[in-house]
Formats: sequence, structure tokens, C-alpha cells
Amino acid sequence: MLVRASEERRNQRAKQTERGEMEGGGGGSGSAETALPLMHQAIVPLSYLLGTWRGHGEGFFPTIKPFKYGEEISFSHSGKPVMAYTSKTWKVASGEPMHAESGYWRPKNDGSIEVVISQSTGLAEVQKGTFNAETQVVKLQSELVGNASKVKQISRVFEMVNGELFYVVQMATNMNHLQPHLKAQLRKL
Ligand code: HEM
Repeated sequence: MLVRASEERRNQRAKQTERGEMEGGGGGSGSAETALPLMHQAIVPLSYLLGTWRGHGEGFFPTIKPFKYGEEISFSHSGKPVMAYTSKTWKVASGEPMHAESGYWRPKNDGSIEVVISQSTGLAEVQKGTFNAETQVVKLQSELVGNASKVKQISRVFEMVNGELFYVVQMATNMNHLQPHLKAQLRKL
């Protein structure tokens, strides 16, 4: 099993080198002797996000009743210059599933980032923005919101404060200007 993992690793490294994906160094979490993929240098500035986060949030908007939710977010990578993102939420009182979404975060060397997200409601987002490795703040603004009946715009800000991940999601609808819909706070498991 270990041998196989290490063989796969070597094959993957060879392919990455062929494609020039490892330029600038791996920066990483893996080694040739483990099954962990080497981290692509493009995602190193956001590597603090990798792993699973759990916490709680609150939702509001002028047109709805405020609500509280539990949430688990995970970020992972496979050695490519992209991080996979998933979020699932649940009702605090009953544990009943609520909204879920997943997507890909593509940070660039110039501090810009593009993110695609598909939501369990059918809505699709293309987000563009910036990240700052020092302040550990990621700011996203929708460039495209697809398959949505009401939503016109979505912004997302993720920020690390004292080791906890905070985010705010704002949205604009056909009836209301851009304003917060979600605020949450999560800790790494
Ligand atoms: C970017 C992500 C999200 C978008 C774009 C979004 C969008 C919306 C919209 C358009 C509404 C209806 C507002 C209105 O009628 O004026 C809504 C309501 C609601 N959202 Fe979200 N939402 C998002 C994330 C979430 C999450 C993560 C949860 C749960 C944890 C959630 C739970 C709710 C609830 C409970 C309501 C009110 C009841 C309902 O209309 O179903 N939403 N959301």
C-alpha cells in the first residue's frame, strides 16, 4: 500500500514537472514517501485554509426571518494550483440539513483569485477578488450569478482572526441592495 502510494506520488511529480506545474517549488505538505500530494506553490499563501472547519452562523435579510445555523467547511488540494471547497450547513436545533455548496478556488501569483461555486439551490457563482497572505483576508465579488431568480450580486469576505475563520456573505436581490445575508465563525478541527 505504502509502496503504491509512493509510486503514485512519483508518477504525479513526473507529470507535474512535465507540465511545468511545480515551477517555484512545492512549498509543502507532502513528501515522496507519503500519499499526501505536494502543494502547488500557487496555493501556499492560502494554505492556512486547508483542512476542515466547523462553527456556526447567522442569516438575515430584510425579507426573511433571522436564523441560526451550524456549518462545516473544508478546503483540500491535489497538488494542482487550485483548492477544492465544500460547505454544508444544518439547523442548529434539529441538525436538519440546510444549504450546501462546493467549488474551486484559484489563487494567482499576483494576489488575485477566482472562485467558482455551485449551490444546492441551483445557483452558480463566478467570483473574482483578491487575497492577502499577511492579513489572511480574502475578498470576493461576483462577476457572474447564474440560474438565480432573485439574486443579482454576491460578495464574500473571509478573514482569519486569532486562528478562527470568519466570513460575511452579502447579496443584492431584485428588491434589495447589497447587504449581509450570512455571518459565520468557524474553528479548524
Ligand atoms: C451565497 C449564498 C446564498 C445565497 C445567494 C442565498 C440566497 C437567498 C435568497 C435569494 C433568499 C430569499 C430572500 C428573499 O426572498 O428576499 C434566501 C433566503 C434564505 N436563505 Fe439564503 N442564500 C445563501 C446562503 C444561505 C445559507 C448558507 C443558508 C443556511 C445556512 C441560507 C438560508 C436561507 C433561509 C433560511 C432563507 C429564508 C427562508 C427561505 O426563503 O428559504 N441561505 N437566501
